[in-house]
Amino acid sequence: MKVTISHIKADIGSLPGHSIVDEKVMARIQEYIEDHGKNLISDFRMAHVGDDAQITMIHTKGIDSPEIHELAWNAFRAGTEVAKKLGLYGAGQDLLKDSFSGNLKGMGPGVAEMEINERPSEPFIVYMMDKTEPGAFNLPIYKMFADPFNTPGLVIDEAMHSGFRFEVWDVIDHKAIFLDGPEDIYDLLALIGSKERYVIKRVYTKKENKKLPEENVAVISTDKLSLIAGKYVGKDDPAAVVRIQSGLPAAGESLEAFAFPYLVSGWMRGSFNGPLMPVGMKDAKMTRFDGPPRVVALGYVLKSGKLEGPVDMFDDPAFDYARRVAGEMTDHLRRMGPFEPHRLPDQEMEYTTLPVVMDKLKDRFVDIEKETVVK
Ligand code: F6R
Ligand code: MG
Ligand code: MG
Repeated sequence: MKVTISHIKADIGSLPGHSIVDEKVMARIQEYIEDHGKNLISDFRMAHVGDDAQITMIHTKGIDSPEIHELAWNAFRAGTEVAKKLGLYGAGQDLLKDSFSGNLKGMGPGVAEMEINERPSEPFIVYMMDKTEPGAFNLPIYKMFADPFNTPGLVIDEAMHSGFRFEVWDVIDHKAIFLDGPEDIYDLLALIGSKERYVIKRVYTKKENKKLPEENVAVISTDKLSLIAGKYVGKDDPAAVVRIQSGLPAAGESLEAFAFPYLVSGWMRGSFNGPLMPVGMKDAKMTRFDGPPRVVALGYVLKSGKLEGPVDMFDDPAFDYARRVAGEMTDHLRRMGPFEPHRLPDQEMEYTTLPVVMDKLKDRFVDIEKETVVK
């Protein structure tokens, strides 16, 4: 039987700045889904990472279901009312439209969902990042599904030996391309290294996979990016659902991709590069320089529409070293202040005063050839 995992997230207000979602907001979202989701979903879980409230729902209505999207939208609206009453910062900031119109695309919340054939045991991990962008998943998803130095199963497990298929979106030209690992990995890397433009949207099993049918095994939320082709539309704290085990990366192969705190863009004012720190839920709040950017991993199994879990996978001393390195990188980068490559290039910054500064200074620019020698 086909079942759908829908993970939907939104920033509807936080405290004291963009640090953490208030428990009272979470409680209201939960209550709304309990009251209104009975006939729509078979199970759900909630979490919050930084200033983003996150809902994982299980149902049989397929992806892009208007009813499921509306349930999440209305739950976020209910949570927003509480956030407004409490005076939380940025209350309702990700609910960009006044009313729901059939699909969350372009409305503000992020959506990562996949319809699958439920296996006898269906383990998966939900990864949630704050203070970064969807392209931040390019590197770890590549490592999990294409890099044998991360995932030895690609070499030593016959079921995985044929590799995986990647769906990559060009968010500027609004096109998608399917590339196969291992055949196309140099082409794949040529694209996804440019993580602002080329974003891994989904991963699929290939027909040669010995354990699974050809279907979706990982999906990343990319919603604001798909909003306006050809235009930069800002950071969109992403989430991903990654199925694991038995012909797919093992839980530990999937988590291993985050043991090295690589640089992502986002952080303070969406305008800086910083290390991605893997943390447990207890540390999923944004502090130093509104970060550093963080990722949480919650592990589940799914059986007949019901969830067991979550297990808070990065809440473990095995990731202490990655956190320490991320702390050292934070210190190192912060000393660069407003200089690149800590600060992002102009066109990637979410906040910039450059046009205003240029306008103010325009009459003070002189011709280098003639007039730069002070006489
Ligand atoms: C980045 C982020 C924060 C804010 C910063 C300024 O994604 O959410 O770093 O950009 O705290 O926020 P405002 O402009 O709301 O004062
Ligand atoms: Mg915010
Ligand atoms: Mg956020």
